[in-house]
Amino acid sequence: MTAENLSASAGMRNLRGGKLTARACEGRLSVTYCFSPRMKLVLAILLTPSLLLAVDFDREIRPLLQERCIECHGEKKQKGELRLDAKVHAFKGGHDGPAILAGKSDASPLFQRVTSTDEDEKMPPKGDPLTAAQISLIREWINSGAQWPENATDKAALTDKRLQHWSVQPIKVASA
Ligand code: HEC
Repeated sequence: MTAENLSASAGMRNLRGGKLTARACEGRLSVTYCFSPRMKLVLAILLTPSLLLAVDFDREIRPLLQERCIECHGEKKQKGELRLDAKVHAFKGGHDGPAILAGKSDASPLFQRVTSTDEDEKMPPKGDPLTAAQISLIREWINSGAQWPENATDKAALTDKRLQHWSVQPIKVASA
């Protein structure tokens, strides 16, 4: 074994999960061929574009809105003229205009409200504030395009003719 081969062999052993010896890798151009299946899986997960890991609205966001916001922003009450119980209402926004700007969490009033430390601004105004994990889910959801798949409630809300106007369609903001 040459000195070169020896150091290559040491290198291979140092790669976590790398199973093959330098000998088996001889002649290969890329060390990735030496990774074990498990290591390849880890790499694949790490390298998967974040888009594919986008927050699942129905699993993560809709239940959160239901649990913490609908009480005041739903069918019965529309504080700040905002409803978050159906897509068409949510994207129309409230008293101050659109609350969700797809792709731009920092500019979205909804995100600003749930992260605000101002007692007069913060949402929800009572009870525990949202957890850091919930806030980061909302941030990811908005930044990845604020996808809101329509369910039966969303579709029913759409049949209200007063909401068909172009001005109340979802706002799309081109990402920077
Ligand atoms: C206990 C009632 C209550 C709950 C629960 C609540 N809000 Fe509010 N929300 C209000 C009130 C009252 C206003 C209007 C006064 C103001 O602007 O602060 C408001 C206003 C807002 C506005 C501004 C609307 C506009 O255009 O002026 C946003 C955005 C908002 N809430 C988001 C949320 C979100 C998101 C949740 C859930 C995480 C939530 N709120 C939960 C009472 C509530």
